[in-house]
This record gives sequence, structure tokens and C-alpha cells, in this order.
Amino acid sequence: MSSRHILTAPAWPYANGPRHIGHVSGFGLPADMFSRYHRMAGNKVLMVSGTDEHGTPIQVQADREGMTPRQLADRYNRVIAGDLLGLDMSYDLFTRTITRNHYAVTQQIFTGLYDNGYIFARTTKGAISPSTGRTLPDRYIEGTCPICGFENARGDQCDNCGNQLDPVDLLEPRSKINGESPLFVDTEQFFLDLPAFTDALGSWLQSKSGKWRPNVLKFSLNLLGDLQPRAITRDLDWGVPVPLDGWRDRPDKRIYVWFDAVIGYLSASIEWARRSGDADAWRAWWQSPDAQAHYFMGKDNIVFHSEIWPAMLLGYSGRGSRDGKPGSLGALSLPTDVVSSEFLTMEGRKFSSSRNIVIYVRDFLERYDVDALRYYVAVAGPESQDTDFTWSEFVRRNNDELVATWGNLVNRAVSFAAKNIGEIPAAGELTAADHQILERSRAAFGTIGGELAGSHFKAGITEAMRTVAEANKYMSEQAPWKLRQSDPERMRTVLAVVLQLVDDAKTLLTPFLPRSSAKVHQMLGGEGAWAGQPRIEEVGEDGDPTYPVITGDYTSPARWERIALRPGTPLAPPTPLFAKLDQSVVDTELRRLGGE
Ligand code: MF3
Ligand code: ZN
Repeated sequence: MSSRHILTAPAWPYANGPRHIGHVSGFGLPADMFSRYHRMAGNKVLMVSGTDEHGTPIQVQADREGMTPRQLADRYNRVIAGDLLGLDMSYDLFTRTITRNHYAVTQQIFTGLYDNGYIFARTTKGAISPSTGRTLPDRYIEGTCPICGFENARGDQCDNCGNQLDPVDLLEPRSKINGESPLFVDTEQFFLDLPAFTDALGSWLQSKSGKWRPNVLKFSLNLLGDLQPRAITRDLDWGVPVPLDGWRDRPDKRIYVWFDAVIGYLSASIEWARRSGDADAWRAWWQSPDAQAHYFMGKDNIVFHSEIWPAMLLGYSGRGSRDGKPGSLGALSLPTDVVSSEFLTMEGRKFSSSRNIVIYVRDFLERYDVDALRYYVAVAGPESQDTDFTWSEFVRRNNDELVATWGNLVNRAVSFAAKNIGEIPAAGELTAADHQILERSRAAFGTIGGELAGSHFKAGITEAMRTVAEANKYMSEQAPWKLRQSDPERMRTVLAVVLQLVDDAKTLLTPFLPRSSAKVHQMLGGEGAWAGQPRIEEVGEDGDPTYPVITGDYTSPARWERIALRPGTPLAPPTPLFAKLDQSVVDTELRRLGGE
């Protein structure tokens, strides 16, 4: 196996509240499954992300909770790191956007783009309050959406049709603070010259044809027809300052949140390298032509990852219509894949924290196994279409598939062998049926590995569960319990085969179900930790208060191949791998939903 550098880039959650299962089924769990597979396959994975802490979503929530944006970000950075740790998300570094490092890297990218001529200043209309004379941030302006006619559209976005807006576009704009009509006055902002990248983006996107999910590619190609310069600064006091003389110290201008957030992938890689003791280590993922970069997100994030971030990378590297030269970090690589998932609804309704149509990760994990959620997301998540989460389907999949198929195979194979032999037996001569099932199981590594590398999680786990079902069938047909008296030698051979199938299946399921796979590893006498797990570390920058980061050492024995069991390894009676859920769970959970 050749070893590649693979960057896994899961979207950065806003630090404006705890995560719910809709969030993590999009950007989170698929990215972790992908990373875990690639590490097992011998590749050098770097998975970096963090909390997204600037911009309107943070300010609005801070106002609501009566705090400063910084206090809010501190609070939810910690909460979200806990949520993601609980999901066994194997980040090499999960950090945040308020670090000095992130500010510095964001400013470097801005400067590189500016020096190459891809950022320019332009006068636009900004709102001020006529009664106070102060700027009125976008989020405090409401009005009628010019696109769909919704009467309570916000200045930055219409929650009805989802379109991004500019306050000046609103019909009958009004201040949310006192209802007065804002005054629009001239204000200077910086713009990213997206049209200068139409050709470069076009040929890059064309080269992805047949490789990306069709919806992502189609959406991205469509945007190319009408690229407009995009404002990348705002009249705000919360965000990264503009790194230009005359702007740097202005208290009222900041870089737009999306411009800084996407740079997070790079700044977090640089932070990771510094923490690892080799400050240049990030370059292998960002500057080597053989490296790959896979970005994971919900579909509302596509434009930022398939258009704006690539344009920024091209411009910084001197590769737009105005050419230029690479900035001080050197030329940077474009995404290999932009993996977007669709939306998850909740019992037929849209997630809404205000109406309590929501299942928070933390609550979920208090009541159910993390692997039950990971399984559900892999097999029934919103991978290629909007998908509804229902409790009855969750209970059914948990009981009929995880427990009855995989849990049952492990349980009956290990308990029978433990009771009747007490150790892993050696196989005698193999029959054609033995060879055939072992061959199928071995071949599954190629098939499922291919699905995981292509981010086809549903196909991957379905195939893995098929191999489990076949192992169950083999065990039933060979019926070792009938051989106890008549042919103990053959019984030992059958069990040797079955246990090898169990061990193969646990390896095949590891990217999806790392925790239960580690249990099976131990049951079969495996030593040490099987799959590396993340941990939280408190870190700081020169005397500032510390903050939690997720990191981990993921070098582990888990390899993507059959590992031959060692005959003679003692076996103990197993404990159940998964909890069977009572049907009453459905009613209990439905009552919680939308309630207090
Ligand atoms: N915070 C954004 C969201 O939750 C995602 C940002 S992804 C990034 O929708 F790459 F820009 F950071
Ligand atoms: Zn609208």
C-alpha cells in the first residue's frame, strides 16, 4: 500500500450553541469515518477543524444570552468540543478561530490576495440609525425579502427562502431596535474579485466531473455563470482586523466571518504543526502535488468550499486572471473533493432549537450508545437526499440490525467457543464452503475500502453488514453445536472460521463503529487499544486563558486487512456489544420533542 497525505476538513461549527444530531450527521461523522478508514489503510491523515466564532450568528446569540461575543464563543467552544469528543471524532486538532495564530494566517491570506490584485475597495451603502447616528449591523435590520416576499427577512439572510441578502435590498427596511427606517450612507468595504477566477475555477471544476457528487458539481458549475465581486469586510467590531495601513486599527471594520472561517483549515493545520514540534509539517498536506484534501459539510456550505475558498487559494497562489505570485506561505492546493450532505429533518419537521424540535448530541449520548448513532448516520443519514430521522426507525435499526445481526454474531460465536473450547481453536482442513466464505470476507476489504475512499458511507456499511449476515448464515448452516459429539475436530475448524469472520467484520466496521470494534478486539484476545480515540487537552497562547482542543494519537494496531487470529488465545464469555432498546423509547422521545 502506498502512503498518501490526506487532509480531512470537516466544516467549522458556529460556536453559538450545542450541536444537535442534524449538524453532526452532515459535517461530522462522515468525515470521521473517512479519516479512520484512511489511517487504517496506511495513509497520513490530518483532520483539522474548530469552532467558527465570528460573525452574525455569534453576535445574535450573544445579544440573546446577554454576553459579549467572546464570552459566548468561550462557552460554546467548550460545549462543542465536548459534544464532538463524545462522538469519538478523531480530530488531529479541533481548535477555534479566535486564536492569534488564526488571526495571523487570515491576515496573511488577505495580504497575499491584496498584493496580487484580487481584493479591492469599493464604496457601498451601509445602514445607520438616524436617531443615534451609529452603524446598524445587518442583523438588526428587518424587512420584506425582495426574492420571496417574506415580511420578516433579516438584513443578512432570509430565513424563509434561505437566500443571502444585503440590508439595502430589503423592501421597507426597519430597525429591530426601535422600528425606525435606517438611513443608508456610503461606506467603504473590501471585495474579493471572484470574476477574476471564472476561468481557473471553471477548468478546475470541469476536471472533477465524474468524481464529485453530482449535486455539488452541478451547483458549483451553475454559479460560474454569474460570479460577482463579494464583500469580505463588514461594519462590525467583532472579527479579524483588516491588515492594511489605515484600516488595521479601525474599531468598526472587520473581515467577514466566512472569509476567515474557511482559512481555518489552513491555520489549524499550521497550529497543529507547531504543536507537533515541526512547524513546517503542515506543508506536506497543502503543498505537495500528491496530497489530497477532502472537505465535508452540509449543503448550505457548498458555495464557500467549491467557489470562494478555491478562489482564495488560487488568488493567493497567483493563479487567477491577473496572475501574481504566491504569498509568503507559498502556493496552496485546491480541494480534491467537496463532500456535501443533504439535510436531516426530525420526525418530519425542520430542526429548531427555539421550538425544541431538536436532539442534542449530549442528550442523545446520555441515553444511547455512540455507535448506535454512528450506525444510524452511516446507514440512514442524509448522504444523498434530505432524510428524516425518526425514533421508531432508530430503534428498529438498532434492534434489528446492530443488535440482531452484528451483536448476535459476536455473541453466539464467542460464547459458543468460550464455553466449548475456552480458546481460539486452530482450523483443520478447510472445506470448499470454508474457503468460499473466507475469500468473500477478505474481498470485502477491497470493496468497502473503495466505498469509504469515495465517501459512499451508506454503501460501505451496507456491504459490511452483508458480510456479517453471511457469517451468521455460515454459522447457522455449519451448526457447530451439532458437531460437539459427532465431530469435535470439524467443530473446531468451523469455529476457527467463524471467529476469523468476526474479527474481519470488526475491522471492516471500525471506521463506522470504533468503540464497539475495540470491544470485539479485546474479546478475541487482542492486546492494547484497537482504534485510537481522541482526547481533550487544555492549551493556551502566551499567558491567555486556556481553551480545550481535541487531539489524539491515532497510530494504532488497526490496519485495513485481515489479521490472522492466533490459535490458543483464551476466550472469556462475552458481554453484550450493544443495548437492545425497548419500544417505549419511541413514545418517551416523541413526548420530549417539541415539549419543555
Ligand atoms: N460555521 C459554518 C456553519 O455552521 C460552517 C463554516 S465552515 C468553514 O454553517 F469552513 F468555513 F469554516
Ligand atoms: Zn426570502
